[in-house]
Amino acid sequence: MNWNDYIETNKQRFMDELFDWLRIPSVSADSRFKKDVKNAAEYLAAKFKAAGADNIAIEETAGNPIVYAEKIINPSLPTILVYGHYDVQPSDPDNLWTTPAFEPEIRDGKIFARGSCDDKGQVYMHVKAFETMMQTNTLPCNVKFMIEGEEEVGSANLGIYCKQNKEKLKADIVLISDTAMISLDTPSIDTGLRGLSYVQVEVTGPDHDLHSGVYGGAVANPINVLCSMIASLHDENRHITIPGFYDKVLELSNEERIALNKAPFSLDEYKKELGIDEVMGETSYTTLERTGIRPTLDVNGIWGGYTGEGSKTVLPSKAYAKISMRLVPNQRSGEITELFTKHFLSIAPKSVKVKVEAHHGGEPVVTPTDSRAYKAAAKALKETFGKEPIPTRGGGSIPIVALFEEVLGLKSILMGFGLDSDDIHSPDEHYGVENFYKGIQTIPYFYKYFSEK
Ligand code: BES
Ligand code: MN
Ligand code: MN
Repeated sequence: MNWNDYIETNKQRFMDELFDWLRIPSVSADSRFKKDVKNAAEYLAAKFKAAGADNIAIEETAGNPIVYAEKIINPSLPTILVYGHYDVQPSDPDNLWTTPAFEPEIRDGKIFARGSCDDKGQVYMHVKAFETMMQTNTLPCNVKFMIEGEEEVGSANLGIYCKQNKEKLKADIVLISDTAMISLDTPSIDTGLRGLSYVQVEVTGPDHDLHSGVYGGAVANPINVLCSMIASLHDENRHITIPGFYDKVLELSNEERIALNKAPFSLDEYKKELGIDEVMGETSYTTLERTGIRPTLDVNGIWGGYTGEGSKTVLPSKAYAKISMRLVPNQRSGEITELFTKHFLSIAPKSVKVKVEAHHGGEPVVTPTDSRAYKAAAKALKETFGKEPIPTRGGGSIPIVALFEEVLGLKSILMGFGLDSDDIHSPDEHYGVENFYKGIQTIPYFYKYFSEK
């Protein structure tokens, strides 16, 4: 039997199995789901076993387990290390989902569920592509799978695991499906990921909440102060004002910028899809550049004072914000966090106290387009989509990818099958049924072309 016949024959079962996996709420950010996270790892390990993998292990860490599996057919052949994550983002706000986040359902040709695209749906394509090659006796090289349960919370324990298992994880390339492509009509391959610096800030005014009539106007309001401080972090051109922030930013040549902007993109459709009348971003860069090659600073959450029903006239003691910065080559997460901290403390008025706490971060990466692996991925996509893929730059981050390079000396291929419009991390996350099957069809071709001399 050939691959397509095998996939066609087993199509429904593949989907049913994915559905069962999606029903397990493997939310890594919330410790109440600890047991579910473990169950999701066990489910995956069982599927690797059924597909014919060897040395399957649920590797315990200080956090959530890593699922490892491998098939070594001949040590002299190339080895692909497949990376992905089985943990998912929290589903809240749950009331905005059309159907519950952990009760998968197909509507309009899309699988709706938390994790359907990011990243269980995409990981499962790899499990089923592997099964397809095993059952048709066509696995052309060695493969190792390393699927973690903490990507959405910073992959701290996977970093340690990589450092401790360099020999075991020896491979020739890391293959990852955890990004998006332009569309089913226009396949693309991400050639970069942005890095991340994440901080939480706390502004304290008076040492207890005050009556805003008795004290307002005379005592610093930490929320007002925090808002002005945050507002000052961008200038009128939407440049970030932190001194030194852009010092190491790698500027692209004109040719590179022209190539990047050749990707099909409709600003009108983009705005329509997001329900906005106008985009906003750094002057003299296009939308694709703003998300692909430029660093950013965004407030992810801000709170303080009274937010309950009705009104309460209070001058609060404290205000907080969570702020993330997306980084591009050659910025370094540690340096940027330091620059932010120094600057943020320096702009604080004497009337308040400010604290900055660093959260997890990650380094940006770029992947070459002239490598054997890139060419194999391009040929594989051409095989199933009928078109040469376009190299693109995604705006998201997978912090562990830089570590694969640093610790394991391995480059990665970002062969993602999602779409930017899949609403990952949002209510109604979904993944195209066709994207799922196309992924299963494409992956064996990558193995084939990557193994060819
Ligand atoms: N799969 C995403 C990253 C992604 C999405 C890359 C779309 C390219 C296109 C990943 O699961 C993710 O959400 N990463 C986080 C970082 C993490 C440290 C929480 C992100 O980008 O915010
Ligand atoms: Mn992901
Ligand atoms: Mn994610």
